[in-house]
Amino acid sequence: LKNRQHDLFLICPPGLEACCVAELGSLGVQGEPRQGGVAFQGGLRELYLVNLWSRCGSRVLVRLGEFRAKDFPGLYRKALQLPWGSYVRPGWPVKLRVTSHRSRLMHSDRIAETVETALRQALGPQESVPGDGEQVVLVRLEEDACTVSIDSSGELLHRRGYRQIMTPAPLRENLAAGMLSLLGWHGDEAFCDPCCGSGTLPIEAALLRSNLAPGMRREFRFMRWPGFRHGLWQQLLSEAARKTVDPGFGIILAADKDESALEAARANARAAGVEELVSFRQEDVAVLEVNPAGGLMAANPPYGLRLDLPLRQLSPLQVVAQRLQADWNRWRCGLLTPERPPGGGWRSAALLHNGGITVNLWAWRAGGE
Ligand SMILES: C[S@@+](CC[C@H](N)C(=O)[O-])C[C@H]1O[C@@H](n2cnc3c(N)ncnc32)[C@H](O)[C@@H]1O
Repeated sequence: LKNRQHDLFLICPPGLEACCVAELGSLGVQGEPRQGGVAFQGGLRELYLVNLWSRCGSRVLVRLGEFRAKDFPGLYRKALQLPWGSYVRPGWPVKLRVTSHRSRLMHSDRIAETVETALRQALGPQESVPGDGEQVVLVRLEEDACTVSIDSSGELLHRRGYRQIMTPAPLRENLAAGMLSLLGWHGDEAFCDPCCGSGTLPIEAALLRSNLAPGMRREFRFMRWPGFRHGLWQQLLSEAARKTVDPGFGIILAADKDESALEAARANARAAGVEELVSFRQEDVAVLEVNPAGGLMAANPPYGLRLDLPLRQLSPLQVVAQRLQADWNRWRCGLLTPERPPGGGWRSAALLHNGGITVNLWAWRAGGE
């Protein structure tokens, strides 16, 4: 396992493939965009690095093998030859996820059973490993071509470990990081989320600004593999710690009208180690004061428009749109919402998914369309 090159795949939310290619590029890894992810090659170093540093990805898979399988005995024989021993100890619980399209083998439960029987046979006598979590194995059949992959991440990568308190409708951390990437925020201009909720966007902005690796504070599944290289992981962590920068002063503003949302945002920022980089303000967006010099504003305000009401009663989406035209026109803005915000200057920067619905990332700049 030590020096082998693997076929690796970073799964990501649809719409963030290009952001992930760019992320890999900044780690010195060349990635090929595919629908829902990025294919790349690498050894354990690249596998650990991408898990540690990917802000936009969801999980990293290692491809164990690809072969044709037209019947169950054939599937069993091929699955038996896969290098299971590098990833799974005998007796470890495994969870098989199967998809099959346009293939002779269609029955997912039977496919899962066959692959698991081969895995158990290949690993030999069982020893029980209590409380070690499940190893996810993915089996995909497409026109009789079977691909077997193993998950290296464990908990999804958006779970950085800093979310202590939830508020309604939080953004996934990797979606927030993806919004920042799509809006071209690199940490060197002011940032404001006027409807910050639990603070995901400002926290991701602060992590980016201080170059903190998002996976520094969590565990990964690959740490349980028999071939885990502890020394290599420690080396990557030390390198990451050296790359952290102290940005000096705060240019990131998290605001919300709701007191409990701000409490959550502050607690989460503290857990992420970036509390000092963010200013928190309890304010309605209708009266929020921001730096007139401008920067990037980004939010997922509550959905829904209410028309023809005075400023105080307008939806936050309408208020932001109005204030951009009036007193915030040195700011750029990105809003994640299904409906086009009112007024001119908006373009769709990406089609994304949030909480099960399709949403646009609407981008605005003064004079833009
Ligand atoms: C969908 S949530 C934002 C979730 C957030 N991005 C997160 O990751 O947790 C919308 C937020 O907008 C806030 N909000 C609603 N109306 C507001 C207003 N007029 N001014 C400021 N904040 C407002 C709500 O309190 C809520 O926290």
